[in-house]
Amino acid sequence: MHVVKVPLEDRSYPVLIGTDALARLGTLCSRHKLNRRCAIISDSNVARLYGKRTKQLLSSAGFDPIMVTVRAGEKSKSLDSVRGCYDELAAHRLERKSFIVALGGGVVGDLAGFVAATYLRGIPFVQVPTSLMAQVDSSVGGKVGVNLKAGKNLAGSFYQPRFVLCDLETLETLPEREFRSGLAEVIKYGIIYDAALFKRLERDLEKLIQRDPQTLSPVIARCCAIKAEIVGQDETEGGLRAILNFGHTIGHAIEAITGYGKFLHGEAISIGQVAAARLSERLRGLPKHDVGRIECLFARAGLPIHLRLNEAQRQRLLDAMMLDKKVSGGDIKFVLAGRIGQASHGHKVPTALLRRELAHLAERTSV
Ligand code: NAD
Ligand code: GLY
Repeated sequence: MHVVKVPLEDRSYPVLIGTDALARLGTLCSRHKLNRRCAIISDSNVARLYGKRTKQLLSSAGFDPIMVTVRAGEKSKSLDSVRGCYDELAAHRLERKSFIVALGGGVVGDLAGFVAATYLRGIPFVQVPTSLMAQVDSSVGGKVGVNLKAGKNLAGSFYQPRFVLCDLETLETLPEREFRSGLAEVIKYGIIYDAALFKRLERDLEKLIQRDPQTLSPVIARCCAIKAEIVGQDETEGGLRAILNFGHTIGHAIEAITGYGKFLHGEAISIGQVAAARLSERLRGLPKHDVGRIECLFARAGLPIHLRLNEAQRQRLLDAMMLDKKVSGGDIKFVLAGRIGQASHGHKVPTALLRRELAHLAERTSV
């Protein structure tokens, strides 16, 4: 079992990563002195696969869980779902000392975390992420929230879990496309922070795609350790934490203009990271050879790296970027990489260059 600590003073917590880690859920909840009453919040797919076992594990450790299930998919990251969860918790009289177990992918983690942050002004919660995206990214760092009509993640908070439990075996049932989507975040950590991880991914990608636990375990642990190190220095994204958004400005805009459905998050940020790498070449001197390595790794992971847009769609994409939370004073700020393993934030990109890069994206696929 790998254990990574997220260092946040009195809100520090461990991320545990291993095979059959779920079996330790009850013991860990007891060790963290959580109260008897709790709610497992999950989605329809994950609840079907792991709900019963999770409930049993908690019950046999002396806890008294209820199950709250939302429909699988991004649409459940909404204020309507939040209201539905509040109503269930209140109907079962969950109290201030009760806690929530978020069992599922990033949608469930973000939603359940937001419910935990706000129900009765905040109750404890634990993350049991079951998708690769959630295990390497969304369950760590305390960003919780839901989408509004105006855009993704526009209502939220920073609220840290008591612990995160990543069971590698749950990844076995994750659909192939979802797994590859998670790889986009894994590759991101290599680009922004760790050249050795990037090299390891170049070497071991096929074994990772086969979900070999021996290969997956240290890679997931390394991703969590990088995120923990960054969040430990900048919990609320005053600066450094922004580097985690490499490729996300364009990626989020792609998700928005295609109506959150055509591309999975990881697919959209794959295109966004390739574009950001090219902007990095122009503005930060990222060697052309490294841009090629980045493109090649995303392509080998089976992720899209191109997007065909006509002039009107390019304008919509630019408009969508202006709505991003990271825009300040009308300037779109980008995370760029000077070399593989080192990224920095806050780079203004001239609109003309951005337009040229968006035109360049138009190579193989179309929206
Ligand atoms: P998701 O939660 O929708 O899960 C993807 C799909 O896989 C769903 O259909 C789900 O039911 C299914 N699934 C999950 N685990 C499974 C398993 N073990 N077996 C079978 N099916 C399984 O999506 P995601 O990719 O996990 O997360 C995306 C969400 O995470 C987005 O809303 C994104 O904004 C958010 N996110 C948040 C952060 C953060 O820091 N809070 C970071 C990255 C992404
Ligand atoms: N996923 C970006 C962050 O947690 O900051």
